[in-house]
Amino acid sequence: MPAMPNSGGKPSQSDHRANHFIAWRQLILQQRKSLPIASVEKRLVEEVKKNDTLIVVGETGSGKTTQLPQYLNIAGFCQDNKIIGITQPRRVAAVTVAKRVAEECNVELGQKVGYSIRFDDMTTAATRIKYMTDGLLVREALLDPHLSKYSIIIVDEAHERTVHTDVLLGLLKNVQCARSKISEINRQIGKTNDEKNFKQDQSQGFVLKPCQTSKLAPLKLIIMSASLDARCFSEYFGGAKAVHVQGRQYPVDILYTYQPEPDYLDATLIAIFQIHLEEGPGDILAFLTGQEEIESVERLVQERIQQLPQENNKVTTIPIYSSLPSDQQMNAFKPAPSGFRKVILATNIAETSVTIPGIKYVIDPGLVKARSYNPVTGMESLIIIPTSKAQALQRSGRAGREGPGKCFRLYPESEFVKMVDSTVPEIKRCNLSNVVLQLKALGVDDIIGFDFMEKPSRMAIVKSLEQLLLLGALTDDYKLSNPVGVQMARLPLDPMYSKALIVANEFKCLEEMLIVVSMLSVESIFYCPREKLEEARAARKNFSSSEGDHITLVNVYRAAADCIEKGKNSNMKEKTMEKTLNKWCRENFINYRSLRHARDIHSQIQGHVQQMGLNILSCGEDILQFRRCLTASFFLNAAIRQPDGSYRAMASGQNVQIHPSSVLFRTKTDCIIFNELIRTNQTYVRNLTRVDPLWLAELAPQYYAEG
Ligand code: CDP
Ligand code: MG
Repeated sequence: MPAMPNSGGKPSQSDHRANHFIAWRQLILQQRKSLPIASVEKRLVEEVKKNDTLIVVGETGSGKTTQLPQYLNIAGFCQDNKIIGITQPRRVAAVTVAKRVAEECNVELGQKVGYSIRFDDMTTAATRIKYMTDGLLVREALLDPHLSKYSIIIVDEAHERTVHTDVLLGLLKNVQCARSKISEINRQIGKTNDEKNFKQDQSQGFVLKPCQTSKLAPLKLIIMSASLDARCFSEYFGGAKAVHVQGRQYPVDILYTYQPEPDYLDATLIAIFQIHLEEGPGDILAFLTGQEEIESVERLVQERIQQLPQENNKVTTIPIYSSLPSDQQMNAFKPAPSGFRKVILATNIAETSVTIPGIKYVIDPGLVKARSYNPVTGMESLIIIPTSKAQALQRSGRAGREGPGKCFRLYPESEFVKMVDSTVPEIKRCNLSNVVLQLKALGVDDIIGFDFMEKPSRMAIVKSLEQLLLLGALTDDYKLSNPVGVQMARLPLDPMYSKALIVANEFKCLEEMLIVVSMLSVESIFYCPREKLEEARAARKNFSSSEGDHITLVNVYRAAADCIEKGKNSNMKEKTMEKTLNKWCRENFINYRSLRHARDIHSQIQGHVQQMGLNILSCGEDILQFRRCLTASFFLNAAIRQPDGSYRAMASGQNVQIHPSSVLFRTKTDCIIFNELIRTNQTYVRNLTRVDPLWLAELAPQYYAEG
């Protein structure tokens, strides 16, 4: 808290600070009051009191995510130390919104207002309003099946229909039902208690008494969505009431191209500069599909700015995507320096999850990176596909938040007409092993009979059950195995990665596997700018292992760790050390942001495996041992070289090529195991290691042994 003004005399520096602080608080209050949701605060609170489940629909930016939890807190829903939980499909949204709300409440982040996401918990016992990812709440249910800490759970951005949201909705429906029953029983018993009339249950021989959960009130559920079609949610929750919050939207001019664009990145770049040079003031938001694309466009924009005459070169670029470290995510919300135009390069995170002020121009190439799953082959891949009409509308809407705007769709209108109305829920297009493992751990045995809002195909469920069986997570009668299945469910990773850690413990190379799993959990460690291709390749050679990409990743991680260690030894301050690491990364063409993220993930998983009692040992120079361990872990992703030089994936029979970014590109090796499948016009595998084909039958007999 800043000092308060002193009385009389010349205004001191602390007076200035205090005045500034008061003005700033007033501004925040004024902003809050002017949000569309503010006019319906009372009504919303009343509806929550009256209904166990409520659906709230409202335009992006109307104030749902930041305001409703505060209204409910004031209305007394946090009594008895209960928490209001708000789930988000994306980490960035959970973090940025929690920071904003803490600021609005004038409290330190992590106290009354906090967030909790995988690998980063910013909550304390004092936290009453808790933002988190939907996946994290599913995990919490493993430890606390009734989610007893929460009085209200708000499932935000439900229209996104991520796989975690869908699982969570099914789970919450069960929890709500169980809590209602418990609270009814407790009420009955409470009544009996009052009458001092304990009833002995003769047959059981025990006294029914209010259990520890006596304070377990029914759970309130609020489903929030930016799409106007709330019917599906209402139907799923037995005809739950829906409330609409009126948004504020200015007209947005939609412009299409005449022809399809052959290179959408190039088209985006041209559009950015066309707007900058020909249109009036206002920030630009461009939608790209992922970190790599964002970073390459960012570099190109920065290069071109330098070629512009000085009067025109006031442009700053700001990236925002899910895995961006949280301090850097916040940059998107800061206004650009005076006189500068801000160009935000975002993934579809900026469609509805985060509202960035100041946007007047939207550039929409009409594409999105999505998971795609083939239940026949059991393979999941990432593909770039056209958005849905609903997504295109959300994107253009971002230009009209504060005044009339323009949206440049980088495709012809005829393409828009062809788009599907809304996106297929993720649960219908992803590998379900993780979902099935989580549900099994939550005690749901009949996965096919689980009350999903939209059922995934039976085939996809069966395939996942098979995979989990092969990984040893399930017993022959499809129950969670102990300890392997139980341990796997506890780790916040894809089941195959969790299993890899357990296997590595046996192979005494957990140190290496921890690094690999952390490095594989981030998007791209290396970067290869087009104009410095040769230099980047030469830099990578310093880390390359002829055995494959996994060991190459271990080499990079260790070299970075050495750089940090040196800094520590020379007593470098944290900030200087980060700068040194950043410089080291630039010199070695390593993506600093990704590396930092990988290091965070590493320290978190390390904590988990230590808790599980695993031994973090290194195999040292024994690379063969590590390659065998990789084979035993990722045997489901093996591919054999064909006479024509392509590879055949063993599990699916699919023809695949080695991705040009792999250190094994253009080498001839009989058998590989891989971690990633990418589909463009070809099917590529990435992150691979050379293995001996004979090891497959030896190390994964459950899959490869004949007979
Ligand atoms: O959830 P909904 O889209 O309805 O709105 P919100 O996220 O609650 O945002 C309400 C307002 O708060 C927006 O106008 C944002 O500009 C502002 N906000 C902000 O300034 N900084 C954030 N980190 C989040 C929201
Ligand atoms: Mg929101």
